[in-house]
Amino acid sequence: MKITVVGAGAVGASCAEYIAIKNFASEVVILDIKEGYAEGKAMDLMQCASLNGFDTKITGSTSDYSKTANSDICVITSGIPRKPGMTREELIGINAGIVKSVSASLVEHSPNTILIVVSNPMDTMTYLVHKTTDLPKHKIIGMGGALDSARFKYRLAEALEAPISDVDGMVIGGHSDKGMVPLTSHATRNSIKVSEFLSEERLNQVKEDTKVGGATLTKLLGTSAWYAPGAAVSGLVHAIACDQKKMFPCSTYLEGEYGLNDLCIGVPVILGKNGIEKIVNVPLSDAEKAHMAESAEGVKKTNGLLEL
Ligand code: 2OP
Repeated sequence: MKITVVGAGAVGASCAEYIAIKNFASEVVILDIKEGYAEGKAMDLMQCASLNGFDTKITGSTSDYSKTANSDICVITSGIPRKPGMTREELIGINAGIVKSVSASLVEHSPNTILIVVSNPMDTMTYLVHKTTDLPKHKIIGMGGALDSARFKYRLAEALEAPISDVDGMVIGGHSDKGMVPLTSHATRNSIKVSEFLSEERLNQVKEDTKVGGATLTKLLGTSAWYAPGAAVSGLVHAIACDQKKMFPCSTYLEGEYGLNDLCIGVPVILGKNGIEKIVNVPLSDAEKAHMAESAEGVKKTNGLLEL
């Protein structure tokens, strides 16, 4: 199982590290345009192999896509991260050109790859890949909901004063500060609805804290987060590589599901060896349906800024 991660920055290197530590991949190639940077990150990570107990071979390449050839799964993290006060959508001017070029190079060398998009604005970047490559839609996956759901569970556990392992919850919709839809109607503490433990007011605060989870970290760190994004990507890669049939919220191209068409947005999907093997239709409250429709409008507005 060969995995390529484009972008040796904090997110890309974290992706590579978590994938390697899970030890299901034979090879991880990290590629970056900065001379020697990917090679350095790969060597540093390989020197963790005996310490972290993995046999995955991690290599680095400076802009040589031939080294990524025949990858089973490719992850695009390249592009600029946001600064404090920026929205993800403001990155489109620079990141769209990068993602279009990177995805074309990856598909040229790995025509059968499954491609995971992380670069922001992620839903629009996923849509861009769908519109500019000939990969089938089940092989184009946007990573946002898995990360947002992890932040949702973090905030729920905080509010419940419970261990994270007791909590489950999912965030669908756009990966944006206003567009996320945390499914509080389905969230549970050990199979019991969280509404049995938390007031509507407290649950609304959990939702709001979840939606700005990325921006909160960007304000603290001065740049976008990287540990949780990297870990979230590694979960998707693991599910595909090991054909786990695991359900995640992922950004995918919709053709009528959830009443939405011609956009990529976060919905529950089953991930396995073929990528997105099924889009799962879950019941939504009226408020969640309305929020999803509003979120889709926001994603389509950003898509409209693309020069396709
Ligand atoms: C985040 O929310 C980078 O969009 C990513 O942290």
